[in-house]
Amino acid sequence: MPGDPYRAKWAAETFLSDVRLVNEVRGMFGFTGTWKGHRVSIQGSGMGMPSLSIYANELIRDFDAQTLIRIGSCGGMQPHVKVRDVIIAMTATSVSSPSRTIFKEVNFAPSADWTLLRNAVAAAEAQGLSPHVGGIYSSDTFYDERPDLNEQMVRHGILGVEMEAAELYTLAARYGRRALAVLTVSDHLQTGEALPASERERSFGEMVEIALAAAFA
Ligand code: HPA
Repeated sequence: MPGDPYRAKWAAETFLSDVRLVNEVRGMFGFTGTWKGHRVSIQGSGMGMPSLSIYANELIRDFDAQTLIRIGSCGGMQPHVKVRDVIIAMTATSVSSPSRTIFKEVNFAPSADWTLLRNAVAAAEAQGLSPHVGGIYSSDTFYDERPDLNEQMVRHGILGVEMEAAELYTLAARYGRRALAVLTVSDHLQTGEALPASERERSFGEMVEIALAAAFA
């Protein structure tokens, strides 16, 4: 599940065989096909947890999806996390997610599926990458007005910020499915550095390969 539907299209056309377009409502492309004989679909999630929540819920309820992997970008939050690095998210902290209403006063801890996480680390290392593995922050805003929250995240070792993983992990927990988020650092909150557009496609391709290898290892 990439955030950008055009990335879903590119990934499906680049990596899958026997590809069929199965959704284009609201331009949120979804494709299904096979990879090395395994059935796999690539569905855009849109940006933010409310959007991802709709697509992930429907993939689970209507299509019985067993494994859901987000691939996307994030902002780096630690000095040792550099632009272009890959982060594999063990946990996802949030202020709130669409599931907040059911947890009430409880702070649920959304976490990745261990087997997927382990497989993804191995797949990234096989590509010659040294992924960071740890906690990320799923924010509700890109244009952030609460720098104090980011400071607390940095202080508590959070590796990067994005906008979808916490709800994906929560839905997977609720329905007994496997979930993971594989992220490339596209910009850095402390240094202001950003990945040039020309490099984004290559790093996106790496993430697709990691996700596919992790899902079917
Ligand atoms: N904030 C939230 N989401 C993001 C960022 C960011 O800085 N970079 C990429 N996705």
